[in-house]
Amino acid sequence: MSHPTLATRARLSEVRYEIRGELARRARELEAQGRELIKLNIGNPGAFGFRAPEHLQRAITGRIADTDPYTHQQGLPAAREAIAAFHRARGTPNATPERVFIGNGVSELIDLSLRALLNPGDEVLLPSPDYPLWSAATILNDGRPVYYACRPENGFLPDPDEIEALVTPRTRAIVLINPNNPTGAAYPRELLERVVDIAARHGLLLMSDEIYDSILYDGAPFHPLAPLAGDVPCLSFGGLSKVHRACGWRVGWAVLSGDPLASGELHHAMDLLGALRLCANVPGQFAIEAALHGEDTIAPLCAPGGRLHEARRAVVESVAASEHLDLVAPAGALYAFPSVVGAAGVGFDDHAFALELMETEDVLVVPGSSFNVPWRNHFRVTLLPEPDQLREVFARIGRVLQRRVEAGAKPRAATA
Ligand SMILES: Cc1ncc(COP(=O)(O)O)c(C=O)c1O
Repeated sequence: MSHPTLATRARLSEVRYEIRGELARRARELEAQGRELIKLNIGNPGAFGFRAPEHLQRAITGRIADTDPYTHQQGLPAAREAIAAFHRARGTPNATPERVFIGNGVSELIDLSLRALLNPGDEVLLPSPDYPLWSAATILNDGRPVYYACRPENGFLPDPDEIEALVTPRTRAIVLINPNNPTGAAYPRELLERVVDIAARHGLLLMSDEIYDSILYDGAPFHPLAPLAGDVPCLSFGGLSKVHRACGWRVGWAVLSGDPLASGELHHAMDLLGALRLCANVPGQFAIEAALHGEDTIAPLCAPGGRLHEARRAVVESVAASEHLDLVAPAGALYAFPSVVGAAGVGFDDHAFALELMETEDVLVVPGSSFNVPWRNHFRVTLLPEPDQLREVFARIGRVLQRRVEAGAKPRAATA
């Protein structure tokens, strides 16, 4: 007897995560055929030869016998104290272990906190471009993403007046990603203060995704949002995946700050949702104290001569040498988000380009439109490969764009 087709959640049709989508699936097919691809689609340090610092590894192996039981739903008390102390040292008001939530990566906490916050039809102000999990988690928790633009001509910074103009009676939260994925923008203090002011006047929750908080280049500053937010309720997200190169450990945290009375219900809701999933993975939590209060291992990688600094330099120089590309140099994070300009950019289709680049030059990038932008002339690469490999990547990108120009780039509508 045949079984009826199993329907799935309707709103999944609105959700995309192309970083691991169709192009990545095609990449695996090509690899199965023996092709060697350079895959720049995921910000996964461990896949590019980076290791989590040894003192973090030791902090886990030294406590492996203690990792069997479930722990508190918000995380190991000592790890939460270490996170709270780190935040207090930054000036986050009311940062106590009780207001720290440890999760299976920031990913789980983005979903959990939006689930705790949203009712059907509630709106969340999200950056465009965004890290697409933010859009997906808003949609899957019955909310509505409302995008504020971060345009390249403004250094990918948002305009606070535009953010405020988007506030409606249904708006619940403003999300910031700082330093930003995919653009690498690091937000100036005055801009953050303006955003705090908007949240204060409209009674909104601030949600600041700071997972790249100490990956910064050429003296770019990082201003954590919570100290500026003061009494305004704020969730600050951080974790071990990027700064500490331990994506696979799945360790992230969210720190609730601001007026405890205003955020008490949210606190309880997040605690309840945390309890329903019992607890986050325990082993990685033993590395948190060592990560936040031990040796700084990321700064040397971002300083001149360091691997990430030189990778960024390779990208910036390659783009500068190309007549077909433009770039707002990333101030932080692990990505560059170049645009295709001039003759090569006429009618540019970022998906068709990414596919052609992979099929003909064995390089996988992420089309810019995967990050919820209306423009089609950007793509994202990660800065994680060796600098020489990035120079090679841009040589191959240059070949594809040159072929496009020679074939006579046509407006998209005409080629469709
Ligand atoms: C901006 C941003 N937030 C959150 C995440 C999720 O990180 P994790 O779940 O590994 O902590 C990522 C991963 O790339 C990211 O770029």
